[in-house]
Amino acid sequence: MKFGTPLSPSALRVMLLGAGELGKEVLIALQRLGVETIAVDRYPNAPGHQVAHRAHVIPMTDGAALRALVEQEKPHLIVPEIEAIATDMLLQIEAEGLAEVIPTARAAQLTMNREGIRRLAAEELGLATSPYRFADSLEQLQAAIDGRDGQPAIGYPCIVKPVMSSSGKGQSLLKGPDDVRHAWDYAAAGGRVNQGRVIVEGFIDFDYEITQLTVRACDASGAVQTYFCDPIGHVQVSGDYVESWQPQAMSPLALQRAREIAGAVTANLGGRGLFGVELFVSGDTVWFSEVSPRPHDTGLVTLCSQRFSEFELHARAILGLPVDVALREPGASAVIYGGMDAGGIAFEGVAAALAVPRSDVRLFGKPEAFVRRRMGVAVANGADVDEARARATLAAGLVRPVKGEMA
Ligand SMILES: Nc1ncnc2c1ncn2[C@@H]1O[C@H](COP(=O)(O)OP(=O)(O)OP(=O)(O)O)[C@@H](O)[C@H]1O
Ligand SMILES: [Mg+2]
Repeated sequence: MKFGTPLSPSALRVMLLGAGELGKEVLIALQRLGVETIAVDRYPNAPGHQVAHRAHVIPMTDGAALRALVEQEKPHLIVPEIEAIATDMLLQIEAEGLAEVIPTARAAQLTMNREGIRRLAAEELGLATSPYRFADSLEQLQAAIDGRDGQPAIGYPCIVKPVMSSSGKGQSLLKGPDDVRHAWDYAAAGGRVNQGRVIVEGFIDFDYEITQLTVRACDASGAVQTYFCDPIGHVQVSGDYVESWQPQAMSPLALQRAREIAGAVTANLGGRGLFGVELFVSGDTVWFSEVSPRPHDTGLVTLCSQRFSEFELHARAILGLPVDVALREPGASAVIYGGMDAGGIAFEGVAAALAVPRSDVRLFGKPEAFVRRRMGVAVANGADVDEARARATLAAGLVRPVKGEMA
């Protein structure tokens, strides 16, 4: 790949589909390499819009609108940052050679639907996962849980999720038969599209869960190799990440199995780029949960813990450059929430947060806050993960969202 001058005929153009906080960091990494960047999201002034050469607002689930924009901007690379994209159109764009889709259009399509990636992992690749079934109605859901349809019962506790959703939306934990109807209704309301199809998974009583960041990048000879970052531990509340740290301590056998699983899934999805492989661990046993073919929210910790953050690694990998996945030192991240439903909010306490030793803060610049919307993140280093976690949590807590009245 040749690197040119942005905004000139020699420019190397990269289009991000989705311009949230993760996309914003990828765009900054690309900017540093002299790439011409195009940020696309479904609302104006998204975080990534604010750091790209050009910003566009379109419904990315609209294939015709997506194609028209690609024909107008002529990117060399298209980089999906979210799941809700017209992936049929990405397949067409890739097949016609209009642009290269990162890591592949097939990966984007398979991972946007829990059914696609789950069937691939469990049924094609034979990886260990939670027991699971799919259901299209309340009756089918109840039958799957009870095993009344000739298949083994999923039983209780179990988890119901819309097949198309992320960040825990529409997800519930079911403790008994009384919870089934509400779980069904909630899933139907929380799903993105294709409303009314859910996955029900047996509950895995894991010791801890990790994100295994895995990079498919070219080596010096140009051949694609697989590289593994140190495991990231995290805490999820209602299916949404609140805290993460790196490295997560693991037994040598569990680590080896985690990497075998991550290697198998990412090799099948193919292409170049960084993947976030979500895994559950109990002792030496590892289960595959899901995979993002792009930087992962729990990987925000790598802004302080690795020599190159997951965003820089993604940028390098997609551009065909070599990567270095080395850990620099233990680190942690803690989420800063909006705490209110309001537009144009302000933040107090940033100076106090940055006075916490070895800490740093990112404020994403989202135009609109919600109580549980992620508006920023604090990261911190420490002699060990415990110290880093304490500092990141302290720093995040010192940042106080307030009603914006600056102007
Ligand atoms: N079968 C399961 N057993 C136990 N816990 C689970 C199971 N499935 C999900 N969880 C818990 O719920 C969290 C969110 O689940 P999952 O990753 O499937 O949802 P998601 O909506 O894709 O979330 P995100 O987009 O943030 O990754 C997991 O990280 C885990 O903590
Ligand atoms: Mg997840």
